[in-house]
Amino acid sequence: MPVRPATEEAIAAAAQALAEGDLVAFPTETVYGLGANALDGHAVARVFAVKERPRFNPLIVHVANLEAAGSYGVFDATARKLAEAFWPGPLSLVLPLRPECGIADLVTAGLGTIALRVPHHAAAQALLAEAKLPLAAPSANRSGRISPTSASHVEAELGDTPAMILDGGPCKHGLESTVVGIVGGEPILLRLGSLPREAIEAVLGHSIARAEEDAAISSPGQLERHYAPETPLRLGATDLREVDALLAFGPDAPQGARTSINLSPTGNLEEAASHLFAALRELDASGASGIAVMPIPSHGLGEAINDRLQRAAKAR
Ligand code: TXA
Ligand code: MG
Repeated sequence: MPVRPATEEAIAAAAQALAEGDLVAFPTETVYGLGANALDGHAVARVFAVKERPRFNPLIVHVANLEAAGSYGVFDATARKLAEAFWPGPLSLVLPLRPECGIADLVTAGLGTIALRVPHHAAAQALLAEAKLPLAAPSANRSGRISPTSASHVEAELGDTPAMILDGGPCKHGLESTVVGIVGGEPILLRLGSLPREAIEAVLGHSIARAEEDAAISSPGQLERHYAPETPLRLGATDLREVDALLAFGPDAPQGARTSINLSPTGNLEEAASHLFAALRELDASGASGIAVMPIPSHGLGEAINDRLQRAAKAR
């Protein structure tokens, strides 16, 4: 069994495996990542193979701190400000790639930019400190499927393909990091995620534009078929059909569904985000022929939750 609790011993073994070009799945505060040494093109190629990614979308590189990030990306004043405000934490910054910095081409998909993130999770921090390597790590799911928020999800997705799956418990946020591009010019929101837009705007002192999905933007991953359960979703549902499983939110959930999960009975959006992927997995496995999803407000983390739900509904 590749799943091991994230003890000091397991982390040392995981760091060794990464240095040898093997893959290690590890917890972060957002979702579990499938990590490879970002300096090793062969190891990174295996990430794409294992995930069965149809395209070489660029990957997020995880580093221990801002100083390490500076070896790979070029920080302007705005990038530094956001990094200082939110790292370690659920923010990824897409920055100009430092030339000759050794990051494998496959990581950046030859874009000339790099996505960097300093995760907050203690096991991720310990692994980065021990490995002393930048780790390219997409979410540890097969392509087009829901991101894993526990070690058992990773095992269900990837089996024993990674050399090890470090178990650091359920992910606190349960949604991927927010991705902001700062590549000369105004910062742009490339992916909604665990860090609410409002928090970023408060630090910037102004609003941030969201990249248009159909524009020829520099984030091909945006167009990826993502977050997809097999069962069709019905969003904004206020009624129930007999065949439905119910994904509920808040205190006024309709009664009588065969299977029902409430993301947050009190209507707390952070709690809802952290349960979203696990709930979708569970309802998807329930045998219902449809999943009715109650309306979810779109302020704060609700914006990212609705984004994920819309992708899941569209993906079929
Ligand atoms: O929360 C997270 O960010 C998780 C955990 C494991 O850290 N990682 C994750 O990675 O979600 P992944 O590979 O599933 O998503 C990477 C996202 C994609 O939307 C991709 O297009 C964007 O980051 N990205 C990466 N490098 C980029 C670049 N150079 N330019 C634009 N977008 C980039
Ligand atoms: Mg992903």
